[in-house]
Amino acid sequence: MRRICIIGISGKLGQYMVEHALARGYEVVGVCRPESTAKLDRFGDRITIFPGRTDDRDVVAEAVKGCQGVLVVLVPWGVDNYATGTAQAVLDSAEAGARLVFSCGWHISMDGKDVYPWRARAFVAFFGFFARPLRFADIGDQVEACRRVFASDTFWTVVRGSDMEEGESDGLPVWSRHVGDPVLASNLTKRTDFALFMVDALTNDDLIHEAPAIVGRKTASARAYAEAAS
Ligand SMILES: NC(=O)c1ccc[n+]([C@@H]2O[C@H](COP(=O)([O-])OP(=O)(O)OC[C@H]3O[C@@H](n4cnc5c(N)ncnc54)[C@H](OP(=O)(O)O)[C@@H]3O)[C@@H](O)[C@H]2O)c1
Repeated sequence: MRRICIIGISGKLGQYMVEHALARGYEVVGVCRPESTAKLDRFGDRITIFPGRTDDRDVVAEAVKGCQGVLVVLVPWGVDNYATGTAQAVLDSAEAGARLVFSCGWHISMDGKDVYPWRARAFVAFFGFFARPLRFADIGDQVEACRRVFASDTFWTVVRGSDMEEGESDGLPVWSRHVGDPVLASNLTKRTDFALFMVDALTNDDLIHEAPAIVGRKTASARAYAEAAS
């Protein structure tokens, strides 16, 4: 892996991914909305920015040229299929054989075998009910984006984040195939470690065609699982 592209590079997750990618010696390019480029000033000429909406197919095609890896922040903002357009643009224009790693939340299910706590179900139902009529967000858009990724024949990974908190890194999160597995019960990950998992997934072939649900490695549930396994 030499050159990577981050689609949605200016957000919190995107900026953490820049830090981890630069630390690994990757050449980093990225796409973000033109009004957000100033958020990346601290990286100076260590990164190359392609200003544009992340669902702009021409901008994405230009940015991913020559990239062996693409990290994609999928967000359901608005009601114009932004996440779906973003995912499709990447699927259509990434280099053949490139590793593609997408972000989303636990609410996305690849095989329908996830078992959600009632609070998570209630939140998604509440958010979904109000967000779309208010034209604020459309959870169904992120679901459709991931459905297209799951159906594609690219080398994809969909990383499903738990609830997030800021703070110092606890190291690479642990993961499981299904929400509801005991190791995930703590439902909390440092945002920088979510980013670390995304960047690490670029070179972890065990994660190709997986949708890992992650949790912080120092959380109570992850520790209990590790102790039981040792
Ligand atoms: N927040 C959580 O607790 C949580 C939990 C689980 C999973 N996740 C997943 O983590 C990823 C990023 O989440 P995050 O909370 O850490 O956010 P984030 O990194 O701040 O990313 C937000 C992204 O959304 C873009 N954005 C914001 N408003 C927008 C708008 N109106 N139209 C288009 N793009 C807009 C931002 O671009 P600009 O810089 O241009 O504004 C940025 O790229 C997502 O895939 C999310 O599903 C988050």
